[in-house]
Amino acid sequence: MVTHRIADGLAFGGDYNPEQWPAKVVDEDLELMALAGVTTLTLGVFSWGTYEPTEGRYDFDRLDALLDRLHAAGIGVDLATPTAAPPVWLLQKHPEILPVTRTGQRYAQGGRLGWCAASPVWREHALRIVEVLARRYGSHQAIRLWHLSNEVGGGNRRCYCDESAAAFRRWLADRYGTVDALNLSWGTAFWGHRYATFEHVLPPRDSETIGQGNPGLVLDFDRFSSDVLLEHVRAERDVVRRHSDVPVTTNFMVGAGPHVVDYARWAPELDVLSNDHYVHAADPHRAQDLAFSADRMRGLRPDQPWLLMETAAGAVSWQPRNRPLTPGELRRNAFGHVARGADGVLFFQWRASVAGAEQFHSGMVPHAGPRSRTFREVVALGADLAAAGEIAGTIVEPARVALLVDDESGWAWEAGPKPVGDLPLANVARRAHRALWSRGVRVDVVPTTLVDALDGYDLVAVAGLYLMGERTARALAGVVGRGGRVVVTHLSGIVDETNRVVTGGYPGVLRDLLGIHVDEMVPLWPDEDVVLDNGWRARDWAERVEADDATVVVRHRTGPLAGEPAVTRRDAGDGQAWYVSVDLDDASLAAALDGAAEGLGLAPPVPADPGVDVVRRTGPQGSYLVAINHGETTARLVAGGRELLTGTDVEDECTVPAGGVVVMRERA
Ligand code: GAL
Repeated sequence: MVTHRIADGLAFGGDYNPEQWPAKVVDEDLELMALAGVTTLTLGVFSWGTYEPTEGRYDFDRLDALLDRLHAAGIGVDLATPTAAPPVWLLQKHPEILPVTRTGQRYAQGGRLGWCAASPVWREHALRIVEVLARRYGSHQAIRLWHLSNEVGGGNRRCYCDESAAAFRRWLADRYGTVDALNLSWGTAFWGHRYATFEHVLPPRDSETIGQGNPGLVLDFDRFSSDVLLEHVRAERDVVRRHSDVPVTTNFMVGAGPHVVDYARWAPELDVLSNDHYVHAADPHRAQDLAFSADRMRGLRPDQPWLLMETAAGAVSWQPRNRPLTPGELRRNAFGHVARGADGVLFFQWRASVAGAEQFHSGMVPHAGPRSRTFREVVALGADLAAAGEIAGTIVEPARVALLVDDESGWAWEAGPKPVGDLPLANVARRAHRALWSRGVRVDVVPTTLVDALDGYDLVAVAGLYLMGERTARALAGVVGRGGRVVVTHLSGIVDETNRVVTGGYPGVLRDLLGIHVDEMVPLWPDEDVVLDNGWRARDWAERVEADDATVVVRHRTGPLAGEPAVTRRDAGDGQAWYVSVDLDDASLAAALDGAAEGLGLAPPVPADPGVDVVRRTGPQGSYLVAINHGETTARLVAGGRELLTGTDVEDECTVPAGGVVVMRERA
């Protein structure tokens, strides 16, 4: 296990962009940071234009002075390579760096991440500034972490320019070896799309004739786009590593997915994993969205803590209505991440901008200044995180339930025409997580790249995993074979890794495991509500299922498949393989998962009233419970030890106030 500590306890702070402010504001910032207990600042995310105002003329005076000052103040720095923001002079001189859309239009300057990863001109300039920075600060004592670029893929996920096309062709030649293998995989015999040579392949640009894009081409272009961005990140990392022993990260944006790049394949390339997570103010389930993101984040590397690199202390500026967090939400959100393995909580950004691109985005210090609810909550949070600091370095106790996810599968679902055009399949996994979360059951979200590590799980859920390779299918069969349980929902295992449908009855690679045969997909009309014979309800999706070697658990009562099986179970020794062929509503999905989990005794780590989310983290220093009460009444938590936020000893039971948080060091 690798552990890198970027702060002495839990890290607390945020992005700091002081080039926006005169010196006296920076002086005040340092005082306020001391008051709030800031331990860590991310510097320089967008500072290239400040470091190098004109080509080849560098100015690091400000950064030199700031680093020394922060070091003297005991604040550690996460220093960014500034490649998220190529300077205007560079884009003026080399507009070919800017990405091209699928309709062939080149982006203009004025945004950020305005670069194509396949551009050699870009690569040269980017690595040059990284080299200058890493050489200058590689051994500066203030620096505790390197932050490569920013949310890579967030603005430049795909570029359709000629350089990208050439790189894509090289990538394809590497992947397929022969163009015939590519033709077979993409099914180009149809519509006369056969390629005689790799040289004829283009990115999936807008075609002037009818068509929605070949799904094989579109998926491979997404894979390529992730790989070419990763190649850039690796190149920056290698430059940094030549000059510095300090660990490197790059901030992910892990949500319900599918993501802009394939984080499961990126994760092994970094020393520390970090995530940006913003709640959607209008989402009534936002606490669970946060838990899902954090569980998903931890699943990328379960044996080491991660870092919350960005979240908002108040409102963001990019949602349709930007409401601030409700009172107390900042604390619950912060500890929501800590509970699930974060070793720090950092914000975007320290002080809210008064001008520029993010003028109305909150900061830890809002426009109103320190005399504000947000800043008061920020200061209180700093104290709480300091009080809970000893939890840093511990690992979240493994769950008994795993949920499989895969970005490639999500991309495959979005590539090309489908039996239903408006079904966001990723929501099924999020809803399955929510069903378990709302019952206090913890879930490890496991990417399919780690599917060989399913040994310890009693229940494995597969929700809408449209693309599935043999390796995953074998691992699932292994779970059932050793007496575990598997629950598979609709639209899983439909295509293989080459994005070709597996024939002979859906769901191809899982048919034998589930003991079923599906011959027809039957999407429901948008307003069609189907009732099953036990009262459960389904919408959007149904299938004609035959149970060859499985028990029918529930049948359709109404709708186009009345009387047909809807949910089945195959018993194999002590193992069970469940199939849910319809898109159940939330309550029915939760009931179905209850059914599949019956007798397993899944429960929170310690008894707690409903509505309290409890997670245990353990390490050499002890065992800790983080409990968050999402309800509106005081709740009971049956646990004894030392409550760290209040500094009180608890005999064997305590209360968690409505909307409150408890962090308990359990009695040894
Ligand atoms: C993130 C980004 C930050 C800031 C933030 C605002 O996507 O990394 O720099 O723009 O959004 O919410």
